[in-house]
Amino acid sequence: MSSLEALLEEYQARAERALNHYLPSAESAPTDLHRAMRYAVLDGGKRIRPALVYAAGSAVGAEPALLDAPACAVEMIHAYSLVHDDLPAMDNDDLRRGKPTCHKRFGEAPALLAGDALIALAFHLLAAPSSISDRGRVRMIETLAQASGSHGMAGGQALDLAAIGKNLNLAELELMHVQKTGALIRASVLLGAYCGPDVNPALLSKLDRYAKRIGLAFQIQDDILDETGDTQTLGKTHGADRARNKPTYPALLGLNQSRQIARDLRDEALEHLAGMDSRADPLRWLAHHIVARES
Ligand code: IPE
Ligand code: IPE
Ligand code: MG
Ligand code: MG
Ligand code: MG
Repeated sequence: MSSLEALLEEYQARAERALNHYLPSAESAPTDLHRAMRYAVLDGGKRIRPALVYAAGSAVGAEPALLDAPACAVEMIHAYSLVHDDLPAMDNDDLRRGKPTCHKRFGEAPALLAGDALIALAFHLLAAPSSISDRGRVRMIETLAQASGSHGMAGGQALDLAAIGKNLNLAELELMHVQKTGALIRASVLLGAYCGPDVNPALLSKLDRYAKRIGLAFQIQDDILDETGDTQTLGKTHGADRARNKPTYPALLGLNQSRQIARDLRDEALEHLAGMDSRADPLRWLAHHIVARES
């Protein structure tokens, strides 16, 4: 295992501990809601977004301890988006992260509420006093709110639902992917970057360009894996997009061209990191990983 792979595992373990710490105890009332929240977040998931928070923060000199709250906030928004994405009214999926989906396990109303409560907890974590300045915390809240809302993830999910069975052109498909998935990936990098003492507007702009490209590449790879992966490895049902007539990159352009676009985006992302020192290596490694991953 390379040292960067080992570092990713460290980030994942760190995120796991922090999530476990910040989530309400399953023993505290209302226990059904708290159990559903913990089920949706813990024991599964690649933790790519927390890894990006830690990697971006480290690239600009942030202490890992400062990054736990933003890393968990982004992952909680992501986990909520998955719980709602899987509901019968949306993608109607039964399997997520190798387990029954939250609504299959707990019922639809508890799953909706678990998602609602995760949103609130995410913003609570960012707002709570910490050694990050008031200005820095407000900036993180603003960025995550923007990325989660109608111009970000929720907006992209609306485009996704409206597009079922339709033929989107490439620009429309790209916009949907940038919003539904790219926005939260981008926010992960920005939140990490805001925590660093060495960040400046020029560096932030480079990191932002990097983040936009890997965010789009991430969803293109998700579309590819939906076609080429197997259910066991993915931890979610293979072939669900075709079965539901979802417009995807492979459906529009074929697998080869989709893979090429993902690789081109990775290369552009890496170009934006050129000139940064070796502290940006984890971000470089993550860019490669996002298009090479098999789950
Ligand atoms: C799946 O995201 C949903 C998308 C936004 C593409 P991930 O592939 O990061 O899912 P987990 O967190 O590892 O389960
Ligand atoms: C999910 O897109 C984007 C979200 C905001 C959750 P998908 O619907 O393709 O994600 P999966 O494939 O179910 O994980
Ligand atoms: Mg979906
Ligand atoms: Mg889905
Ligand atoms: Mg998918």
